Amino acid sequence: MEVWPGRLPPAPADLRVACREADGLLCLLTDRVDAELLDAAPRLRAVSVFAVGVDNVDLDAATRRGIQVGHTPGVLTETTADLAFALLLAAARRLGESERDVRAGCWPVWSPGAYLGEEVHGATLGIGGMGRIGSAVARRAAGFEIEVLHSSRSGGIALEELLERSDFASLHVPLNPETHGLIGEAELERMKPTAVLVNTARGELIDTDALVDALRGGAIAAAGLDVTDPEPLPAGHPLLTVDNAVITPHIGSASRRTRELMADMAVDNLLAALRGEPMPHLANPEVR
Ligand code: DGY
Repeated sequence: MEVWPGRLPPAPADLRVACREADGLLCLLTDRVDAELLDAAPRLRAVSVFAVGVDNVDLDAATRRGIQVGHTPGVLTETTADLAFALLLAAARRLGESERDVRAGCWPVWSPGAYLGEEVHGATLGIGGMGRIGSAVARRAAGFEIEVLHSSRSGGIALEELLERSDFASLHVPLNPETHGLIGEAELERMKPTAVLVNTARGELIDTDALVDALRGGAIAAAGLDVTDPEPLPAGHPLLTVDNAVITPHIGSASRRTRELMADMAVDNLLAALRGEPMPHLANPEVR
């Protein structure tokens, strides 16, 4: 077993060299597993991703080569939904701005108009993608007497209608060519000026420039983002300059327990494939 020693992810060329003789690869969502890498790793028969999302892997290229790709669905559902709800609350009630002000020593005298946010209880929440995590967010919303709308491949309403009717919109779809740039200028324009957009899925679902314009220009009230495009955000990025965005560094599944479960699942997937068995959680079942 060879473990990448760096604190930062390996550069693509380094990963190709590290995989030259490998039978299996256990990788993070920051590692790009594309056709070039697979070509450079002729022995590879297992790619186990330490994440539920496998958008960092060229699944078709892996399937064509008979390589099983594993992921970690289920174990991070509730943990990620918790964070989506935390971001919803934080963005709606301006926790980022107000907390920053307190730390900066400017606790304003209490006034009726200070830090006015959006009402959460009794609001309408639109969920884009009613899969495992979307459904878990909907369960949390019930406790706040929130009306839930959803739009997904399997049903619900059209995304356009969802955006127009929702006070909060939360994204829970996988990133693929169809969902890349799902929320752009036109979609943000449809949202209420008091609306809050939450993204704990993948940054590339949202057109970042359009989001910055919408947050600056008041097309929407706020955003709660655990994922961004690019990621990480470089110093001075426009998103870091808008006060009405609450941003966390892709920590949706980051509880001790969940990360342990993800690690176990990723290892179980890898070992199964190396034994010549199907991975228990296979992202490309067509490979079998
Ligand atoms: C995933 O699993 O896809 C998350 O983004 C990280 O937990």
